[in-house]
Amino acid sequence: MLVLGIETSCDECAAAVVEDGTAIRSNVVATQIPFHARWGGVVPEIASRTHTEWIDATVREALDGAGLAAGDVDAVAATAEPGLLGSLLVGLTFGKAFAWTRGIPFVPVNHLHAHLYAARLGTGRSDGSKDSPFAGSPPYPYLGLLVSGGHSMVCRVDDFDQITTLGTTLDDAAGEAFDKVGKHYGLPYPAGKYVDEMAKAGNEDAFRFPMPNLHKNGRPSDMSFSGLKNAVINQRETFRQRTRSAKEAENAGETADVIASFQKAAVKILLRALFRAVDDTGITTVVAGGGVAANSYLRARLAERADIHAVFPPPELCGDNGAMVAGFAYHKLRGGSGAAL
Ligand code: KG4
Ligand code: ZN
Repeated sequence: MLVLGIETSCDECAAAVVEDGTAIRSNVVATQIPFHARWGGVVPEIASRTHTEWIDATVREALDGAGLAAGDVDAVAATAEPGLLGSLLVGLTFGKAFAWTRGIPFVPVNHLHAHLYAARLGTGRSDGSKDSPFAGSPPYPYLGLLVSGGHSMVCRVDDFDQITTLGTTLDDAAGEAFDKVGKHYGLPYPAGKYVDEMAKAGNEDAFRFPMPNLHKNGRPSDMSFSGLKNAVINQRETFRQRTRSAKEAENAGETADVIASFQKAAVKILLRALFRAVDDTGITTVVAGGGVAANSYLRARLAERADIHAVFPPPELCGDNGAMVAGFAYHKLRGGSGAAL
């Protein structure tokens, strides 16, 4: 079954064709980052307007890339929630119209569920076999670690769409903290991948930043990033008070040290929440998803736990894309829950 997946929940205009839930036939991601970079964050109005202008060409490219005509697609899926309302509407409306004019099913997809599905996608080899890390049956239940620019969540996954939240961030998302810290230290938007790179040159033990203490009233796997974010941003003021400019601090390698120490603390917060869930549930398979799952430090720290089987999507499938939407929708259709228009 060939499913066209459309993703327009934020600033990526994306479309893909996926066969039988795992084999990616095409995957087009048109990023709007240059349009938002000068504002230091996504401007919803610019995002929705740009999606409107790009969606047709993006879907065409996805079909061409898969060597298909519009009539060859068996179903259409689009991200329905959560996300920027105006942006979501573009992909949803386009997808519904595409499906309706061809008399094929349309499937609305939850963006977070789709991110958690991304690790199950493969490229599909010419011999018909799939090269997903999960090739064969996924070992349900597993724990999900969803870390993106808008969400941070630890959850229990009992089936592709049976997802129980065990903990979330109480304030900023992990990616948001990476982006805001990076911005204050002069890194381009979105800063996550630049923080990841710069941290490699720094000393992660140079600064000790505070860890949140939350679980008295909340769930053991809840997390918080705003205290850490503010402490790291305030560190810049400390540099200034030492009458040294940011440039001097940078030359002295202090920026890289701050960034590396921040990344260490942020990953520690994420992993502490995750390891509590491992202890509480006894589940030792973890599937990650979302833009921050591309982080090399997170991957390395998690790999140190020999008792945990961690599955990450390839970095290019961690961020927003249409393939995860199409792949997830295939299972919804097989389960008979393809929504009527
Ligand atoms: O999943 P995503 O593409 O969009 C949302 O659904 O939010 O995630 C984007 C987030 C941004 O905050 C970006 O800075 C972050 O993922 N990110 C990273 C890395 N690559 C992207 N954060 C840390 N390390 C990375 N290598
Ligand atoms: Zn996302």
